[in-house]
Amino acid sequence: MRIAALASHGGSILQAVIDAIENHTLDASLVLVISNNSRARALQRAARHAIPTLHLSGKTHPDPVALDEAIASALTRCGCDLVLLAGYMKRLGPVTLRRFDGRIINTHPALLPKHGGQGHFGRRVHEAVLAAGERVSGATVHWVDGDYDSGAIIAQSRVPVKPDDTAKSLEDRVKVAERKLVVESLAELAHRTSN
Ligand code: GRF
Repeated sequence: MRIAALASHGGSILQAVIDAIENHTLDASLVLVISNNSRARALQRAARHAIPTLHLSGKTHPDPVALDEAIASALTRCGCDLVLLAGYMKRLGPVTLRRFDGRIINTHPALLPKHGGQGHFGRRVHEAVLAAGERVSGATVHWVDGDYDSGAIIAQSRVPVKPDDTAKSLEDRVKVAERKLVVESLAELAHRTSN
């Protein structure tokens, strides 16, 4: 399975995928990493493993239609079977969504459908989970259908909320579970692709 990833910041999820491919836990290859942020650590991580990278953003393409087309073309050219949104903070445009319909997955650091949707990203998700008094949080891998965090769920992993959790401590624990969940979900999809 040929995977292309889009990421905006640190890329720790991306790193988990790279590691799983390198240690043969995941039978797949990463063929392209795109970021809207030219300084994203995700791009540096990819480059260090000789994975092709691209910076595509409102800076490289001020017209949103042109940006959408550039992303769709780059994904087409790399010949990916699957697109992984690994901490990608932008919404994909209609051309990309249509062309890769049924082939884009996202990861979210909470148990969707709770604590998802526009504005629910990064540390804010965990603040919302704590404010709601949840006793369990977790991570969700789901298909992307165009809206924020709303497509069909592929897999979830549950993480207990501890009484003394801060948003940071909860985020750290969820991230560990999320990395594992993403790799396992990709392995399952790769298995299906090869059969
Ligand atoms: C992940 O928790 C992901 O669910 C969210 O952003 C985070 C990305 O982290 N959308 P990183 O950049 O992979 O470290």
